[in-house]
Amino acid sequence: MKLFDVYPLMNVTPQKAEDCYVWDDQGNKYLDLYGGHAVISIGHSHPHYIRQITRQLNNIGFYSNSVQNPLQLKLANKLGEVSGMTDYDLFLCNSGAEANENALKLASFHTGKKRVIAFKKAFHGRTSAAVAATDNPSIQAEINKGHEVTFLNLNDSASVENELKKGDVCAVIVEGIQGIGGIKIPENSFLQDLEKLCRQYACVLILDEIQSGYGRSGSFFAFQDAGIKPHLITMAKGMGNGFPIGGLLISPEFKPSHGLLGTTFGGNYLACAAALAVLEVIEEQRLVENARQTGRFLIEELNQIAGIEEVRGRGLMIGLQFDHSVADIRRRLVTEKKIFTGVSSTNIIRLLPPLTMTIPMAQHFIGSLKEVLQT
Ligand SMILES: Cc1ncc(COP(=O)(O)O)c(C=O)c1O
Repeated sequence: MKLFDVYPLMNVTPQKAEDCYVWDDQGNKYLDLYGGHAVISIGHSHPHYIRQITRQLNNIGFYSNSVQNPLQLKLANKLGEVSGMTDYDLFLCNSGAEANENALKLASFHTGKKRVIAFKKAFHGRTSAAVAATDNPSIQAEINKGHEVTFLNLNDSASVENELKKGDVCAVIVEGIQGIGGIKIPENSFLQDLEKLCRQYACVLILDEIQSGYGRSGSFFAFQDAGIKPHLITMAKGMGNGFPIGGLLISPEFKPSHGLLGTTFGGNYLACAAALAVLEVIEEQRLVENARQTGRFLIEELNQIAGIEEVRGRGLMIGLQFDHSVADIRRRLVTEKKIFTGVSSTNIIRLLPPLTMTIPMAQHFIGSLKEVLQT
């Protein structure tokens, strides 16, 4: 059997990883500034994470959501404590798209309406409503086009109000920081307007923190800088440090009922053990603060490099925009300097390293990037 070929692959075969480093099958060591697409939060193969998942597997690996699972409540309590969102409820699922799918569904249940406002360049996942709210027609099949979604310019509060006035919108969905769209940051005043407008027009505000959450922006959730309280917050990527888990934080205005949402695998023992270990390490190693400080250093240094058109980002979610394709720079960083980076469209390099990245690692990257750009 062969694989259904949907991914363009780098010619690297990772075999082992530790903290911010990955080794391939030839024994080459790479600095990982991509974090497996923003997934590695506490560093690869963290000893506490390995210990906790192993211990759980030796007790019980899986049962269904029809029995008591105290680990889910322990995870909810810890997440409330570390994120500061103590008054929200938690619903657990398995991926980012699934979190957004459930959020949009809950918004529609809650309001009885169905139109969605999303923003240009948004990415919210590849499933039904999530892909319909993604601004990329090339990944939407005919079957995804039954949804009513209106795409507006990010940071344009007036056009949001014009649409909400029509009275048929169930949700406004916005990324804490647009990732795939090229590290575009919604202004704090715009997020504050969205909060106010959604309340005024009885519509649900969904913050997609799947990429920007879990400390990546230097705050636990990127939207927290704006001091707002969204109705729903979606999470995934950094939540399990590679163990598949996603989730939805739900404000107390939403009343649950049996059967309203559900999943087979969501909130399983292993996923909860992984997610709890992640929060414990984030707290103990002060990784949100580290992301903020190392990110600030990186952004200051990157701003001084000639040839980069614009540096955007917060914490360890950084975009370097060039006025030409970055394919060659990225290829040389991997092959010559042994550094993984990500991309957004053709002209933007995206840095999404583990939140454990240190200043010496940042200095090493800056030196390597300068060498690649100068030769
Ligand atoms: C902001 C955002 N939302 C949703 C998703 C979808 O997450 P998943 O690939 O886990 O379904 C992604 C994935 O890149 C994302 O960056």
